[in-house]
Amino acid sequence: MSTKQVRVLVLVCSTRPGALGPAVGAWLTETITPRAAELGAELVPVALADLGLPFLDEEEHPSSGVYRNEHTRRWSAIVDAADGVIVVTPEYNYGMPASLKNALDYLSREWAWKPVGFVSYGNTSAGTRSVQHAKQVVTTLRLVPLGATVALRIADAVQDGEVRPAPAAGMAAIDVLDELVRVAHALRPMREQARPESVAGPEPGSYLRRLTPDDAPEVTVLQRCCWVDEALANDPGTVPALHESVEQVREWLADWDAVGLWRDGRLLGMVRTRRVEAEWHVGRLGVSPDLRGRGLGRWLLRTAEAVADPACRRIVLSTGAGSRNNIALYRSEGYDPAPLPGEDGTIRLTKEPVRTG
Ligand SMILES: Cc1cc2nc3c(=O)[nH]c(=O)nc-3n(C[C@H](O)[C@H](O)[C@H](O)COP(=O)(O)O)c2cc1C
Repeated sequence: MSTKQVRVLVLVCSTRPGALGPAVGAWLTETITPRAAELGAELVPVALADLGLPFLDEEEHPSSGVYRNEHTRRWSAIVDAADGVIVVTPEYNYGMPASLKNALDYLSREWAWKPVGFVSYGNTSAGTRSVQHAKQVVTTLRLVPLGATVALRIADAVQDGEVRPAPAAGMAAIDVLDELVRVAHALRPMREQARPESVAGPEPGSYLRRLTPDDAPEVTVLQRCCWVDEALANDPGTVPALHESVEQVREWLADWDAVGLWRDGRLLGMVRTRRVEAEWHVGRLGVSPDLRGRGLGRWLLRTAEAVADPACRRIVLSTGAGSRNNIALYRSEGYDPAPLPGEDGTIRLTKEPVRTG
């Protein structure tokens, strides 16, 4: 799964037969598709009418994430995979339709830290009271409502049963998408941190997540900052992390298991691992220079060792022969005090994996 693309759920909320909602949803999707392509956003149209969600029938509170019913699990997976939502909603009796409130109530964590935009429609109020009603509910779920909005007066927007609003409405729809994509990017760190598989890091608000080839730009910048000291302590020509292009970093990110320590969208540190025959290779252990001396490198090293393949007989690291700080850290973590010379002025340090249990 890409960590950079934005996946936008276009959610048609009315469920009654002959509803106008699907036509409004189709107009919206058609209108914003070219812009979505420019923004690298993927539109995922979903109609609540097709999901067949009954009135909330789960025993546990949604925040538990314990779902007994298949329809809930399906709905959870759809929302979980999205980075933001555009709700296409009518106004029923000055409020949002019960179908939307019910669909919101079903889930909890899945909604958190995702932008939500509204495309409403109705008679005199163009559905705006429905949106105001929905906004106070969505904020409880940590959905983040956008300012940009589209409000269609049915008398103006529907002719001969077809949805054909004025061009201004199309522009407004594109504004909704633009704002949604920007907010979705801005909130990504909060979504990542809130994911169940996210591991809390040693700095407040920091978390660990796997690095993918999409992270190559951030990894390249971190490498260049981190390995300057290595270059000063050794022969700069022999420090690959200083020279690699974004493309080269992208390539190794695909080959290694690498993890990054993140906070608020910033990559603070990283390490990569992989098994080579009976050895567990650990490398590219780096921490942003302004955060050194706080134990982050040690924490990342231990994290990399903890996931060593049980079939490996030793953990192997290499560093520049002149990198005294690195060598001191590795020795303090139990690496062989009599390292072997490696290639290009590097030394190899090894350690037996610590077996637990
Ligand atoms: C139960 C119900 C309540 C409605 N209440 C409102 C309302 O409060 N304000 C409004 O502008 N239109 C109201 N309408 C008219 C709707 O805007 C119009 O029927 C619209 O097509 C409904 O969306 P749908 O066709 O997607 O269900 C209501 C319609 C229904 C069925």
